[in-house]
Amino acid sequence: MLVVGRVAQVREFVAKTPRPLGLVPTMGALHQGHLALVGAARRQCASVAVSIFVNPTQFGPNEDLTAYPRDMQRDLDLLAPLGVDLVFVPLVEEIYPEGFDTRVEVGQVARRLEGGQRPGHFRGVATVVTKLFNIVRPDMAYFGEKDAQQVRVVKRLARDLDTGVEIVVVPTVREADGLAMSSRNMYLSPAERSAASVLYRALCTAQRLYREGERDAGRIRQAVERVLGAEPLVVAVDYVSVADSETLDELERVDRPTVVSLAVRIGRTRLIDNIALSGV
Ligand code: PAF
Repeated sequence: MLVVGRVAQVREFVAKTPRPLGLVPTMGALHQGHLALVGAARRQCASVAVSIFVNPTQFGPNEDLTAYPRDMQRDLDLLAPLGVDLVFVPLVEEIYPEGFDTRVEVGQVARRLEGGQRPGHFRGVATVVTKLFNIVRPDMAYFGEKDAQQVRVVKRLARDLDTGVEIVVVPTVREADGLAMSSRNMYLSPAERSAASVLYRALCTAQRLYREGERDAGRIRQAVERVLGAEPLVVAVDYVSVADSETLDELERVDRPTVVSLAVRIGRTRLIDNIALSGV
């Protein structure tokens, strides 16, 4: 497993490596969800590259950039047995050198939900993902369904900018109580951690109602909000969305492929999760 920090070193590796090449972009603090992305890349590609870069441009001024968990040695120890060929661990100056002045802005699908709550977030994601695609030139890139809107944003940019990169979406990996794996789960106190299972319970309520025949999106939203509201450690519900799976347009009737997504604050930690409505 080659570990490099420079764009030129990545280019040298990429020139010689067997294709297809899969890229797993990460911000480190790896967990089973990331390892599932690497596993999928390993099965589908001849070569696998992982990037570890806590991207400052996707954090807002009052967000957790400095607190974001970082443990490079632990991350490398987790990746080593998985047959990863290259790990790219650039410094901020390597990605954003002096004078850097270009941004990638995805339209409509990036503006709602997380985009509405975290202005500039998807501009940062789209910019760094475009840079990583240009640096690594992968054939496929792997993203987790847990960040449902990020997946839509990245698919849009891959298509609109003719990147030639196939976006592979890997299902969310969950803890035993349903909590989606996330690097931010580390911030939760034991009581908050146990309360955090409410996100998945709320999403399962939406799924159950849908399977029982409910098609009124408003009633599904309200039921989800009720479950979240019953958990005392939930300090705020940023949104509950019942939306078209592809465009993320809010729905009145659930009459097409639909995703229910939510963002919730538990103590000082903001968690997101989602579920597709399926089954009759
Ligand atoms: O999902 C993440 O960890 C980040 O948003 C990504 C895709 C690595 C870009 O910084």
